[in-house]
Parts: sequence; structure tokens; C-alpha cells
Amino acid sequence: MWLADNWKNYEVIDTSGGEKLERWGDYMLIRPDPQVIWNTKREHYGWKKPNAHYHRSNKGGGEWEFFDLPKQWEITYEPLALTFGLKPFSFKHTGLFPEQAANWDWFSDIIKTTRENDPGRKLKVLNLFAYTGGATLAAARAGAEVTHVDASKGMVAWAKENAMLSGLDGAPIRWLVDDCQKFVDRELRRGNHYDAIIMDPPSYGRGPGGEIWKIEDAIHPLVKSCAMLLSDNPVFFLINSYTTGFAPGVLSYLINIEVVSKFGGSVVSDEVGLPVSNGLALPCGSSGRWQK
Ligand SMILES: C[S@@+](CC[C@H](N)C(=O)[O-])C[C@H]1O[C@@H](n2cnc3c(N)ncnc32)[C@H](O)[C@@H]1O
Repeated sequence: MWLADNWKNYEVIDTSGGEKLERWGDYMLIRPDPQVIWNTKREHYGWKKPNAHYHRSNKGGGEWEFFDLPKQWEITYEPLALTFGLKPFSFKHTGLFPEQAANWDWFSDIIKTTRENDPGRKLKVLNLFAYTGGATLAAARAGAEVTHVDASKGMVAWAKENAMLSGLDGAPIRWLVDDCQKFVDRELRRGNHYDAIIMDPPSYGRGPGGEIWKIEDAIHPLVKSCAMLLSDNPVFFLINSYTTGFAPGVLSYLINIEVVSKFGGSVVSDEVGLPVSNGLALPCGSSGRWQK
């Protein structure tokens, strides 16, 4: 498992009974997690005195119960000096997937090494379903030019705020509100290319024009067109998925048939996870990583 174990300001304190107790900076949250099928004693005082608790309803969705939590606060991922604005919103979200730091560290090293070996080379990175910009800012911090695409105006605005908080508001980042497949098709028609592509698609989503995204139907066509968008000398390709039932091997298979078949290189896929304070690890989705 690829563990996001470099966080200082974020921590999974404990997990039990379908929930996880987390520390986000100075605040403790209890949020649901379907992976947590065990019931262990809840000894940490945070279970009784959280700052907020998201209660899942059996009709789907759920609601937050607040005890003592600011409307918005920030945490910093120190290894890459990235700062994120957090706020509790729908579907238990806070605006950040901390486990993605495992992927940020991986591709940041590739970008830095590539630039050290070839200082004059400009690296163009495309980040699809880019949400609040974690991967965008990590790639920009490493020195890449980044194109950030997400269907939601609100998410793109939030990502721009995170760029400001991280002192990256002057970095070469293009912020685009668009449907990912439509954007990729347009880039192909324009003859544009990218040296690296990142995607973290939801299981189900909608484009700005109502375009339906259903991962099982749409991901192969997207990976196929993205492989055609890669430059002659691509450096990495990353797919992350939270879709239950999508084994890591599914991502490897997709990348093998569309990227390795064209550019060689190697692909590895595995679970991504978060260390828990009791020394165990909580699985949080899977990633497929290709590099030259
Ligand atoms: C929940 S996020 C995935 C996690 C996120 N990338 C992360 O790790 O931080 C999914 C994002 O995909 C966007 N989205 C959904 N359908 C889309 C589509 N068809 N085109 C572009 N973005 C889409 C949503 O607006 C949302 O920001």
C-alpha cells in the first residue's frame, strides 16, 4: 500500500464501527468510512468530544453536527509547503483527500528529477477532475506548467484560493471549468500535447453542461484519448479511483493497453492508504502509476 505518511497536520487517530476519528490541524472530526467494518473499543477522548461529527443517514447522504468548529480553517502539507482551506460540506467532504499526498510525493520527485536532468525542458501537466487542486499545486510546486480541469465553478474557485494560500497564485496554472472528455477531445483537435496526465474521476459525475460521467462506461475512452494527448517523451501517467470494487489491477490493465502499448515504460498499481495512530493502515482507494 502507498501510504501518505508525511503529514504532520493531519492524522487518523482511530477507526471503529463504520467511522474514523481524524485530526485536521487543531480540530477533530468523526466521519463515516464504509471500509471500517470492525468494532473496536473507542478509547480516545476525541470520540466523545469531537469538534464535529458527520452522521450518515440510511437514506443516503447525511448531516454534520457541529460542537466547536470554525466555518473555515487551514492545514499545511509541509513536505511540499502546500496550504489548503478546509470547510465541512456535503457528503462528509472537507475539501481535501489527504491520502492523495502519497501520489503528490511520487510525481513531484519525477518532475524534479526530469527538470534537473534537462533544465531547459518545460513540463506540461494535465490534471483532470482536479477538485480543490491538491495535485495541481503539487505539480506546480515541483516546477511544472499545469492545466487544471474540473466541471464545477465552485471547485475551481476553491482551488485558486488554495493556490493563493500556498503562494502559488503566480505559478503557470490554467484554471478551466469544463467537462473532462470534451476538453481532451478539443485538445486533440488543436494538436496540443502534455508530458504527464493525472485523473481522479468520481464513480459518477456531471459536466458543466450536464454531461454524465459513469466511470465504468467512460474511463476507458478517456484513458485512450489521453494516451493520444501525451507528448513524444511523456514522463508519467496517474489514475486514482475511489470506486468500490475497482481493484488496482483494473487501473494497470487500462494503462497497459493504452499507454504502455505506445510508450513502453512500466505501470504499477496499488492501494493508497493513511497510517492510523495505532500503527495500522486505512485503505483509501487505488492508484495506477505509469512512468517511462
Ligand atoms: C470528488 S472529486 C475527486 C477527488 C479529487 N480529485 C481529489 O483527490 O482531491 C471529483 C471531481 O470531479 C469533478 N467532476 C465530476 N464529473 C466531471 C466531469 N464530467 N468533467 C469534469 N469534472 C468532473 C467534480 O466537480 C469533482 O470536483
